[in-house]
Amino acid sequence: EKAKMTVDKDFTIGEVDKRLYGSFIEHLGRAVYGGIYEPGHASADEQGFRADVLEMVKELQVPIVRYPGGNFVSGYNWEDSVGPVSERKRRLELAWRTIETNEFGFNEFVDWAKKANSDVMMAVNLGTRGVDAARNIVEYSNHPEGSYYSDLRIKHGYKQPHGVKTWCLGNEMDGPWQIGHKTAEEYGRTAAEAAKVMKWTDPTIELVACGSSHLGMPSFPDWEATVLDHTYDHVEYLSLHQYYGNPDNDTPTFLARSLEMDRFIDTVKATCDYMKAKKRSKKTMYLSFDEWNVWYHSHENDSKMDPWQIAPPQLEDIYNHEDALLVGCMLISMLKHADRVKMACLAQLVNVIAPIMTETGGGSWRQTIFYPFMHASVYGRGTALVPLIQSPKYDTKEITDVPYLEGIAVHNEEQGEVTVFAVNRHLEESLPLEVDLRSFGKCSLIEHIVLEADDLKASNTAAQPDRVVPHNRGGASVSDTLITASLAKASWNVIRLK
Ligand code: AHR
Repeated sequence: EKAKMTVDKDFTIGEVDKRLYGSFIEHLGRAVYGGIYEPGHASADEQGFRADVLEMVKELQVPIVRYPGGNFVSGYNWEDSVGPVSERKRRLELAWRTIETNEFGFNEFVDWAKKANSDVMMAVNLGTRGVDAARNIVEYSNHPEGSYYSDLRIKHGYKQPHGVKTWCLGNEMDGPWQIGHKTAEEYGRTAAEAAKVMKWTDPTIELVACGSSHLGMPSFPDWEATVLDHTYDHVEYLSLHQYYGNPDNDTPTFLARSLEMDRFIDTVKATCDYMKAKKRSKKTMYLSFDEWNVWYHSHENDSKMDPWQIAPPQLEDIYNHEDALLVGCMLISMLKHADRVKMACLAQLVNVIAPIMTETGGGSWRQTIFYPFMHASVYGRGTALVPLIQSPKYDTKEITDVPYLEGIAVHNEEQGEVTVFAVNRHLEESLPLEVDLRSFGKCSLIEHIVLEADDLKASNTAAQPDRVVPHNRGGASVSDTLITASLAKASWNVIRLK
């Protein structure tokens, strides 16, 4: 049985905001120390930033990076992380039970992001701190001069304001694991007041309120409704977070998880629109899917970690081929919601549940998930088109009617290109595919990129960094406006046309 996808250039979902391809660096494990920053490393520049890592980050074309957490931010005293390094305080970091030296801080991150051609998405601490610290960091970061904190920034060597535009109001405040966890009422009130004064300090900023930590939270979606009741007029985005794993080795179900992600986004969207109606508001609330990925391989190791180490190897998932397929499906899910999901952050970027891995003092390599993310970021810019899909389906115990084909097309009018992203979820058989590009006129194939592997559990390692890499011998053919392809079993495909 074959699958069919029909797309029409007039049937659009929405513009793909480039920030859909954002990522995340938390002060956690070896993301900063031994990851993006390692003075003394052979590739380190004058600021101690690893050039090998920067190069790979640039390959991913990451337009925005969230910082400094994550759970870390709920205990973060931003003042500890600026000023002369020799005077910076070492702190017990309670979220991940480590020692934070603060050798690398806010200003260093702004510098690093510039070198990575990326903007900063800064989070404020609404766990142990609140309105006061939130407005002060905005003043330090964005006010030009002539006030205590802006002058302090200048004294620290940064004459020009950082101009950080996007700010997160805390992190996962619905989770009992969060330092300073709050009820929806408590958080909603605090976030609204913090938002108000942050915008009084700099009216040009945009704010993200915390949604639920994941779809399975018992307070979902009441949390969203209550938080928005307080914050609707003050913020531009509501956050979503979601990680998936395959601990029972049930790959058909694992690969179907992106259908849950679709439902998650639809429910948050509906909750936002309910609040829009309730408030008689003209404003549409957009979504920031600012943590998403596969995360489970490292759980066992992490549970045995001794506390109070400096930058220990935490959350170091080594990703396999099937993880890359789900990451591809999750990217397609977000593209299918491009009208509302305007920002997203692959969590995270280096060493910690990351597409890029390093050895401290050694080399670096690309994990399997690097590739679908890179393809989407590089080729998935433009307008997302409604994918009309007919596909054979399968059932699992938990999820039924799962199409073997997952797919979407993105039209880049500027470059005159259309790119089809497609996953074949079938683990044993290839899937014949026809894509009908009816309204596009005669097209020709640029290339058909495929990520496939002989073993679903195959991964890239320091010793074998190129075990799973894409090739462009996919063999799609185009006749007029009809593309014909055979999608290899368990594969990620990028069919590029002009
Ligand atoms: O990304 C790892 C952690 O996952 C983050 O710190 C937290 O926000 C989430 O639970």
